[in-house]
Amino acid sequence: MPSLSSRVQRIKPSPTLSITQKAAALRQSGLDILSFSAGEPDFDTPPHIVAAAEEALRKGQTRYTATAGVPALRSAVAAESERIRGVPTKTEDVIITVGAKHALYLLFQVLLDPGDEVIIPAPYWVSYPDQVLLADGVPVIAPTFATQNFELSCQQLEKLITARTKALVINTPSNPTGSIYRRDSLAQLTRTAVEAGLTVICDEIYRELVYGGATHVSPLSLCPPDKRDHVFVVDGVSKTYAMTGWRIGWGIGHTDIIKAMTKIQGQDVSNPTSFAQMATLAALKGPREFLKEWQAEYTVRRDLMVERLSAIPGLSCLTPQGAFYVLADVTQILEKLGDQATDVTLSDKLLEEAHVAVVPGSAFGAPGTIRLSYATSRREIEMGVARMAEALGRMGQLRQK
Ligand SMILES: Cc1ncc(COP(=O)(O)O)c(C=O)c1O
Repeated sequence: MPSLSSRVQRIKPSPTLSITQKAAALRQSGLDILSFSAGEPDFDTPPHIVAAAEEALRKGQTRYTATAGVPALRSAVAAESERIRGVPTKTEDVIITVGAKHALYLLFQVLLDPGDEVIIPAPYWVSYPDQVLLADGVPVIAPTFATQNFELSCQQLEKLITARTKALVINTPSNPTGSIYRRDSLAQLTRTAVEAGLTVICDEIYRELVYGGATHVSPLSLCPPDKRDHVFVVDGVSKTYAMTGWRIGWGIGHTDIIKAMTKIQGQDVSNPTSFAQMATLAALKGPREFLKEWQAEYTVRRDLMVERLSAIPGLSCLTPQGAFYVLADVTQILEKLGDQATDVTLSDKLLEEAHVAVVPGSAFGAPGTIRLSYATSRREIEMGVARMAEALGRMGQLRQK
């Protein structure tokens, strides 16, 4: 066996993907597993989007495309961004990538030199630190708290900036907390970061999944106009349009950054899949009524999950404003269980004893919590949380004996 590079040994496998796969394997073995671990909608991709892919295939759009993506799609993304973020955007400021994840990967590769630091507020989406490490960078984790709406403050940011700080990651609405930055705090944070010369990387993949009158504002819209080159937007169709398997996302930023990312894309994947890009074009240009229905359904599921979880003794959670996750604080439960119980051992026990899959918060830099996705049916939410409550009750009683 040849030795593996130190680069790959620095990172760990994606915990969310591995838990979803573990739950799927148990289900295949015949167990009735309910999963709150998935990071994807349970809806099907809308038929008009599927039809556009079929048509593209029939028309022979099965060859390599331009490396940065089909020009019509790049223009559509630029036009959409201009409309929603209110900032002039050219086709050349857009790269189409293999999911939003690949946009982030390429971005870290082109921005970071060895030892460059990237500030990542925790709880964070699992891939940011590992992608920074893959680019030989240093993730600098900044804790944020439920009591402050999980927002990073300017004071915290200022304390963390060093001569090596290159970028700040902002993910709003957030995976795993579901929280959304308030406009004023986001404006101040963006200004502080860009004035210190950092690139603000805003991951807006859950931008359209907001509930109960909450609104999402992009740091790009709030940035002082002369500093807009310091903001880079990551977005895509995976979550909004239930297109996780199609693997299409994009990056929007300074033309030179886009060119650099395109250079790497040309040497790794060549281009995102041709007909998936045509389906994405149909998604952006097509009807949007279904989104309202999905939003309404997510709202009902969110409220149901928060209500049922809050009834479990020792568990607490905020009502998330966006995305489709609840981050539940289980510290009191862990204290009660003793025996050095952690969110990881608790998640294992919930899978083994309640046959419910959740993701331990440690995966997101938030020990003492578990993440539950409500992108699943109301019935599964009711049954799954009931099973959890019962199993936790049993565990607590065993402990008392
Ligand atoms: C915050 C966040 N960013 C990016 C991604 C990646 O999205 P994609 O499937 O388009 O690569 C995810 C997926 O879980 C996510 O939660």
